[in-house]
Amino acid sequence: MKNLFKDDPELAHLVTKEEQRMEQTINLIAAENHAPKSIMEVVGSILNTKAIEGYPGNRFHGGCACVDEIEQLAIMRAKQLFGAEFANVQPHSGTSANLAVYFSVLEPGDSILSMSLPHGGHLSHGHQASMTSKCFSFSHYTLDPKTELIDYDRIEELTAKIKPKMIVAGASSYPRLIDYERISTIAGEHSAFFMVDMAHLAGLVAAKVIPSPVPYADFVTFTTYKTMMGGRGGIILAREQFGKKVNHAVFPGCQGTSGVNLIAAKALICKLAESEEFRTIQQRTLDHAALMATLLTQKGYKLVTGGTENHQLLIDLTDKEISGSVAERQLEYTGLVLNRNVVPGDADHPGRVSGLRIGTAAIATRNMLEPEVTEVINLVDRVLSYPEDQYVLNLVRQDVAALCSRFPVYV
Ligand SMILES: Cc1ncc(COP(=O)(O)O)c(C=O)c1O
Repeated sequence: MKNLFKDDPELAHLVTKEEQRMEQTINLIAAENHAPKSIMEVVGSILNTKAIEGYPGNRFHGGCACVDEIEQLAIMRAKQLFGAEFANVQPHSGTSANLAVYFSVLEPGDSILSMSLPHGGHLSHGHQASMTSKCFSFSHYTLDPKTELIDYDRIEELTAKIKPKMIVAGASSYPRLIDYERISTIAGEHSAFFMVDMAHLAGLVAAKVIPSPVPYADFVTFTTYKTMMGGRGGIILAREQFGKKVNHAVFPGCQGTSGVNLIAAKALICKLAESEEFRTIQQRTLDHAALMATLLTQKGYKLVTGGTENHQLLIDLTDKEISGSVAERQLEYTGLVLNRNVVPGDADHPGRVSGLRIGTAAIATRNMLEPEVTEVINLVDRVLSYPEDQYVLNLVRQDVAALCSRFPVYV
């Protein structure tokens, strides 16, 4: 970063500080990952300066011959990796991708059925704070209160009653596999479009360590920077028949120019995702989550749904004397970085956050293996057992620092 140090030492210092934070803490945030160095190179490349509007072969600026090839490469690789008929690689983010899908085949005010946020859904699935809920009329399905699994019968009932134009599956905090085939059948029987938001799961799906929604859904959206390990941004996959409408909804509908550097990073991660190394990391991500679930259960923690089948776990702290917010803060003090999360029991208590979400993607990428997973869970348990004991917290902090120094991320 020698040029940044010259032009803006203050900012360069902050970037360096953030790099040190990443090296010296353990990332258990389910929505994050550590991207390969080649992704950093292409994101920071000269491609950042090129403006593109439109699509390959039909641009509104000159000088697009090379970047047309880059976008075509990204589209071709995304389609091949996920076995999709169509791909749009321009969305700035997962939210932009979702918004574009809604606008591609629906009219403002049309009804959409999606998962409720306190039960695991995402803001962009029609939460009242999100623009999506201002444009479309959302209804929400929830989890079965006993099993905490998606209540598919309820989806069927709600679909028959509301007759939504689209059903959305996918979540930001749901530790189980989703029965895409079942929801697709319900959507088909009621002539609703079916969209799956696999933002969290894309890397696991790409590596084929969990089932893919692509054969069942009309549209599949995802982010490229969570389990997928790439640069920031979103991708839309769709059946060929919706391709033109999706393209039009992304540009000019929801976005102007798109970042060529980020499109190039999407091309790169879709290539790297075909490698054995990527598959190993995704399998390890899955195995680590399963091991964590076993260890936490043995230690007496309650997990939402009782376990996990993907990269994340949700600890339900309602029976403990610590809130999700305090737990998050004290863990972060020691260098164990994760996030508080609502759990289904919080749905009737606005403002209450009684859960912790743990993800294993970043530690798997960092090459931590079973012994380290066990150590991490022991450390988490010590903090949650003695959250106000400064002596314990400082000891954990030392152990976290020692562990991190054995597993450098980028240095
Ligand atoms: C299920 C789901 N969809 C969409 C998004 C939104 O992605 P972005 O923050 O890139 O808009 C997220 C992000 O956390 C997510 O979990």
